[in-house]
Amino acid sequence: NRPAYIFDLDGVLVDTAVFHYEAWKRLANELGFDFTVAQNEQLKGVSRVESLEKILAWGGVEKTDAEKLELAKKKNDWYLEMVAKMTASDLLPGVLAFLEQARAEGKKIALGSASKNAPLILDKTGIARFFDAIVDGNEVSLSKPNPEVFLCAARKLEVQPADCLVFEDAEAGVAAAIAGGMAVVGIGEEGALPDADALVANLGKLVK
Ligand code: G6P
Ligand code: MG
Repeated sequence: NRPAYIFDLDGVLVDTAVFHYEAWKRLANELGFDFTVAQNEQLKGVSRVESLEKILAWGGVEKTDAEKLELAKKKNDWYLEMVAKMTASDLLPGVLAFLEQARAEGKKIALGSASKNAPLILDKTGIARFFDAIVDGNEVSLSKPNPEVFLCAARKLEVQPADCLVFEDAEAGVAAAIAGGMAVVGIGEEGALPDADALVANLGKLVK
């Protein structure tokens, strides 16, 4: 029963992982190699540039820094074409009800995401109004499992890490929450995220 909630975005509030997958796959294919769903899983919580680095390494392709910048932009432009079509119907099951419940209970609410597109996505899906603080990839460059994104969210909410409950769908995100001294609810299928304090399939399962 903690006074502050910190939400990851992709895979917790919205299912953008498939958009990331489509865009990265298109880029990999253009570069002459394939990109799998299993590889996409490993990019959850990983920043855009670090994701690109990993993909290039998997494909055995080397690029200059300038080329990498261009490739990351290309991927993001494709990703944004998909994000542009997002509405509240793209929220994962129970998200709206759970955020309303948290508000009614007086929780402090923050976003802790590695995504630079987080503010846009909150806006498109109509849930920006629930957040007292937003920490995203524009502010924090250290990828999860580094706890910085969550610690920064706690600072903005003016609460201690021990007051925070994090909601995460990625292994790296769960590790980041633990490293930050926070409790964490995993969002995933049975057997996933063994290090989380609790596991639910979606936030709807936590609506009273
Ligand atoms: C989230 C996703 C990652 C993504 C990262 C950066 O953490 O789980 O898959 O790479 O955000 O997203 P961005 O929108 O900045 O490219
Ligand atoms: Mg996530």
